[in-house]
Order: sequence, then C-alpha cells, then structure tokens
Amino acid sequence: MPQHWNAAFIAAPSDPDGRNPAPAPYLRREFTVGAGLRSATLHVTAVGLVEAHLNGAPVGDEVLAPGWTSYRHRLVVSSHDVTGRVVEGGNALGAVLGEGWAVGRLTWEEGKRAVWADRPAGFLQLDLDYGDRVDVIRSGADWRAGTGATLADSIYDGETHDARREPAGWAEPGFDDTHWSPVEVVPRDLSTLIAPSAPPIRRVQELPAVDILTTPEGRTVVDFGQNLSGWVRLTVRGEAGTTIVLRHTETLIDGEADFRPNRTALATDRYVLRGGGPETWEPRFTFHGFRYVEVEGWPGCLDTEAMTAVVVHSDMRRTGWFETSDELVNQLHRNVVWSMRGNFVGVPTDCPQRDERLGWTGDINAFGPTAAFLYDVRGVLGSWLTDLAAEQREQGHVPLVVPDVGAMPVTTPTALWGDVAVSLPWTLYQQYGERELLAAQYESMTAFIDSVEARLDERGLWSSGFQLGDWLDPDAPPKNPAGGKTDAYLVACAYLCHTTHQLARTAAVLSHADDAARYTALHQRVRVAFRDEWVTPSGLVANDTVTAYALAICFDILDPAQQARAGRRLAELVDRAGHRISTGFAGTPLVAHALSRTDQLDTAYRLLLQTECPSFLYPVTRGATTIWERWDAIRPDGSLHDTGMTSLNHYALGAVADWLHRVVGGLEPVEPGYRRMRIAPRPGGGLTHATLTHDTPYGRVRVAWRQEPDGHLTVDVAVPPGATADVVLPGHPDELTVQAGPGSHRWEYDVPTPERPVYTLDTPLKELFRDSALWAALQPVLRRHLPQFADADSGTEPSLPSLRILLGYFPVQAPALEADLVAVLQERTVAG
Ligand code: BGC
Repeated sequence: MPQHWNAAFIAAPSDPDGRNPAPAPYLRREFTVGAGLRSATLHVTAVGLVEAHLNGAPVGDEVLAPGWTSYRHRLVVSSHDVTGRVVEGGNALGAVLGEGWAVGRLTWEEGKRAVWADRPAGFLQLDLDYGDRVDVIRSGADWRAGTGATLADSIYDGETHDARREPAGWAEPGFDDTHWSPVEVVPRDLSTLIAPSAPPIRRVQELPAVDILTTPEGRTVVDFGQNLSGWVRLTVRGEAGTTIVLRHTETLIDGEADFRPNRTALATDRYVLRGGGPETWEPRFTFHGFRYVEVEGWPGCLDTEAMTAVVVHSDMRRTGWFETSDELVNQLHRNVVWSMRGNFVGVPTDCPQRDERLGWTGDINAFGPTAAFLYDVRGVLGSWLTDLAAEQREQGHVPLVVPDVGAMPVTTPTALWGDVAVSLPWTLYQQYGERELLAAQYESMTAFIDSVEARLDERGLWSSGFQLGDWLDPDAPPKNPAGGKTDAYLVACAYLCHTTHQLARTAAVLSHADDAARYTALHQRVRVAFRDEWVTPSGLVANDTVTAYALAICFDILDPAQQARAGRRLAELVDRAGHRISTGFAGTPLVAHALSRTDQLDTAYRLLLQTECPSFLYPVTRGATTIWERWDAIRPDGSLHDTGMTSLNHYALGAVADWLHRVVGGLEPVEPGYRRMRIAPRPGGGLTHATLTHDTPYGRVRVAWRQEPDGHLTVDVAVPPGATADVVLPGHPDELTVQAGPGSHRWEYDVPTPERPVYTLDTPLKELFRDSALWAALQPVLRRHLPQFADADSGTEPSLPSLRILLGYFPVQAPALEADLVAVLQERTVAG
C-alpha cells in the first residue's frame, strides 16, 4: 500500500431524473505507458461497490468490493498487480460503480437508503513503476462518466441489466467518450483508507441446477438443491429486447415459490437480451439468499444447463470438519456450515435473504465458537471487531448491529448482543492464541463492561434497560420473540457473570494486574448477586426453565453440589419437554453443554436426536439445507411460520454444533491456540462413530472414535507438532487420561457394559420414558390395547406414576395388556 494517496473519489453527476437507484455510473480515462515499465499496481476502492476495468476486462477476482465495513472509519483498498495487463502506448482504465451497502436500501424501514453516501464514488490509483520513477494514474476531475447496461442495482432488490445498452469498448483506448459527462470530485478523508485485513468476497463455488419444476399455478421454478448466498449465471439465446426475470426464494410452499421470507426485499434480477447469439450474464452488485429461482420470460425451452448458482461469500479457509454414523446429524452439521457460508458475505450477518442481512451482534456472539472451529475467521471477525470498537468509541455504546445502520434507537447495553464486545475477542484468543487481538479490543471490552457496571442496581444485579432476553424461545408469543419463559434480566445477569470473568482473564493475559483484580471483584459481586436473587441453597433456580439452568451451569455460577442438583433438574425439564427445544438465542448454544457437564449425557443426546417439531433435527427431516431462524419456520403441516421473522438461513441457533465439536468429537483448547488441548469424546445416543478434524495454528488435529456393538471402542487421535493433548478415554475400564504428544495414537479397549436396569410394572414411568428405545417399544402395545389413546402425544414426559397404576384404570383390558407389557419389559431387560 502506498504511503500517500494521490487519487480523489469521483462520482457521476447526480441522476437528472432523480432515479433511486440510478443507473450504475461507468467511469473512464485513458493513459499512456512508456518504455521500461517494471510493474503496475492498481489500488481501487469505492464508497458503494466497484468493478475496475483495464483495457476492456475486469481486474481481479473479487466481487462486491470493497465489502462492508464501517465506512466512516475504515474503507478497504484492494491492490492488484496488473503488470501483465498494461501495454506500451495507449491504455484505458475504467470502473463501474454500484450502490451496495453504502448507498442503497438498508433495513426494513421504508425509504431508508444512503446510510453512508447519496451516490457511489470510486477511487482508483494506478502506480506505474519504471524503476527510477513511479508515474501515477489517478481518479480525478479529468475522468469521464457515462452509463451502460446496469440500469439499477440494489443489494436487497436485485439488478436490472439491459445488454443492448452496454457501450462497446468503453474500457478500451480509443472509445469516444465525448458524449459522456465530466465527473465530480467527492471530498473524503483519505486517512480512512486501509489495506484489507479480511479475505475478499469471491465466487467460491458453483452449483448446477438440479431440477426445473412447473408449479401447480404453471410457473417455472429452478431448484439448485441448496440454500445459499450468491446469484445465478445464465446463458441464453433469443431475440434482442427479450426480458428474463429471476425472482429468488428460499422455499416452496404448496409447490409454489414463496417470497415471504424475503419480506420487502424484491430479490429480483432482470436481464434484457442483446440478441444475436448465446449470451452469458450474472449480476455484480447484488446477492440473494436462495435455493429456488422463479423464471419468467425465458425464450424457448429452459434446461438445467442454462443456469448455474454462483456461491458468493468471504473467501475464508475451511478449518473444521465433523461427521458421525448418523446421517441426520451429519446433515444438521452441513446445514450449520452452509448457514455460516451464507452469512459471511463481508460481515457476519443474521440472514442473507430479507430486508436485513445486518451484522447483528447477538447472532455472532452465539455462533462465534462454532464459526471459529469451521473456518479461519481471524480476518472477517477481526475486521468486524475493529469496526465495532470504532463505532462504540464514537457512540458511547455497542450498537446492536455493526456496521451500524441506525436501525435500532437503543443506546443502553444489551446482554448477549453487546456482550459480543467481550466474548468474541476471548473466543478468538482461545482459538488462535493471538494476544494482539485481545490487546486491540481491550478498550472496547472494558468500555462495555464499565457501561454495564454503571447500571447495576444496589444488589449488584443488571435489572433495568432494554433486553432481548432468550430471543426466539419457541414458547414466546410469535410476535414477541423477546417475551420467552426466561426472565430477560436473569439472562442479562448470567451473561454478565460470564463476560466479567472473561474480561478479568483478559486483563490478566495482558498483564493489567489492577484491572484483573477489579474485574475479578466485579465478577464475584455479580455472581453472588445472581445466586442471592435466583438460586436456592440446594441448586434449584427460581426461574424454572431450561435456559435458566443452562446459563447457571455453563457460566459457573453454582458451587459443585448445586451444580449436580441443577443438572438433575435441567434433565427433568428437558425430558418433560419431550426433548423438544424450549430455548432461544441465550440457552440453545449452552443447553447440551450444561447437560453433558452435569453427567446428563443421555438426555443431551436425546435432545440432539429428537426429530419432532421443534427440535434440532426436525428441519433436517423436512429437507432443510441450512439452519432456520425458528426450528418451526416450516410447520409439520407444511405451512410457513409467517410472522415476518422466518428466515431459513440464520446461523445463530446452529451454535449447537459447538457441542458436536467439543463433546461428541471431543476437542477443545486448554491453552490458547490449542498449544495444549483436551480430547475427551463422549460417545452416546447410539452413534457408532464420529470423526472430527480441525486445523489449529499448530497444524491438523484429528479425533475419531468407533464403537462396535459388543462394546469394543477404538479411539484414534492425531496431534500436530508443538502441541500436546490430554486425552480422556471414554468409558475406559481404568478411567484413563493420557498425555499425548505430536503424532498418531490409537487406543482400543472394551467398554464395560453398564448393568441393565430391571424394569417392572412398578418402575416409575418417567424412568421408562427416559429409555427411548424401551419407550418406543411400549407404544404399539399401548395403542393396540387402548386405541382411544392412539393419537396421544408420546413425546412428552408421562404424568402417571407407573404402568401398574395405568392398568388399574382399565380393568377390562388389564389382563391382556399386562401380559404384553411385561413381555416388552422382560425382553428389553434380558436382551439388553
Ligand atoms: C434478526 C436477529 C437479531 C434480532 C434482534 C432480528 O430481526 O434477524 O437475528 O438478532 O432481530 O432484534
């Protein structure tokens, strides 16, 4: 990056017709290259979006450049080596500008646009290095501005491209631009220009169309088989002026493309044919979250070859993989990965399809640990945290969305959302071991906690101000996702216990001894206040919900005896809910961890493996290819949960994958960056194997376990150079923990078979219910003898004490029913 910028930001004159969006500006100028050129480097950015052109072709493979940052503070400049692209003599440099996030529509608010600028402006600086001198070609007042084929572009609404209007040769030398206008120079503080710290957004993958459907209403819909972020590339032949319309959507309901998940985002691309041969087109200044595209106006017969889905997101390195013997769990994990991909288009967002796609802080706070396992997120999340800190410094609070678009008027701290300022740097430090990131974020971390501390009441509780609580608890009223079962201030205080602890540890890592003592004391104060307010001496939590227990257990608020009691109560609550989900953003990332931590592993697996709605696997059984915003976004009857909050691609609740990685796969860092790691897989739930692979800063870790039906277990572990692992061997007869150094290791042993419980007619029904295989085997018997209860819900915990009591209610059926029930109980007990 040059030390001094010489170029200026330039824009086309404002659209005389006042169109919103206006046609994309095309900018150009010619220049001459002399003899002896050594290298040529093009630096380019824009307020808006930019595609640079040199001698007739686009430069580089980035799309949606310069991505999305808090443009007031930081604007990324891309640099491209174009030495091979310039020639001695006449050359032409050009740029097409798009509205993007800076200029175009943002948020659900009608008419809200131009958050950063009222029109796009481009910045180009071409350094021509001759060895003894550098000539600089720069954007400035001597450029010309025109328009071309891109008639309208909007991130939310899509792009309109009339191929007949593309001026041939506009970015080549010799083009006649006398009818174009002079440009206008737009003032900007050039100290905000920065080199990229995150990978650029690119076309990362292409997916073929898998099917072309004719809907019941006779419309044509192309199915790409996967919900994704990006766009469609089409190849078409037809008459000039023919208009093709592509409307993107995530789902079909009753066989028709349903656009409600997009809310007001039109997600519509239009292509007008030039005519005269096959023409290939894809948009460049929009993206859509979609699996299906409804097509109108296609000339002739549409076949699958004519369209390709182009997957677009920040080009991060994949670092984590996980699979098991259970195909539903594997699909759940694939869905998590795809939701991450769909929501890392420049910044971490809530969703990629509707009139939002914003950097919601709470969503990435919930998903951060999962994200950092799956991909190298240092770049994207490090850059995003720098923006967060800049906006927080400017505004005095952590905005609910970063970059801040002024969508929410909240200026007081919000738990889980604002907490990201502390928890995400800490997560990244655990993952990558980079102290610098913690140091860079330290001011932001302390400012957030200090702002909360200033609001604590006299008891030390966070008990006032705006909160989103256990957002999207499935039991919250559909139109009030913050109104779940768990008190929003309980959530706030529990998260504060967690973040004050993280901050105290951060201060210690950074050798700020006074701060470490201060925040440790604050942590203790909040923890004691939480226990005084919410926890009984034995370990029950006054707000008797799954989320409340999950938080109290995972955030180390309880002492060991209370922890065990709380674990048992949590398991009861989860069982009673029939292993359906009863947690929102606050509890879902933690509930399975809370269960496995308190030795309620079976219940954790039952929660994972439930397929009834709402559950982790229910969407998978409905063909989901991404994580839904609500587990019941599409209900069992096939209808859409239409509350205006029904994205089918929201990663937040996919945070359950963290449990898959840390408990089923069994890997977690003990020392930052995995210099020391703990490998403690915990087989269960009938899974017969699981394999986890993770590229740590030290190299690749692999954990694989396989359990044979006879109880023989094999554990394979590979530890990278420079790292060590404490391997806790699951179910080992000697309860072995081994220190493993770099290299490959294998352990094989027979896991002692646990004693089978003896079931009788007097066994508490709750206990029978917990043995899911036995419970399933009892159902047909009960239905056969008591057909009046055939439709009864067998998925929730029974209230009757025992089968013997049940028999007492049905004296006529009792003899035959008893014989059949006993047969099932004995068979299970004996055959195991
Ligand atoms: C977003 C969420 C977000 C929430 C908070 C929603 O509209 O999609 O994921 O965190 O608002 O208010």
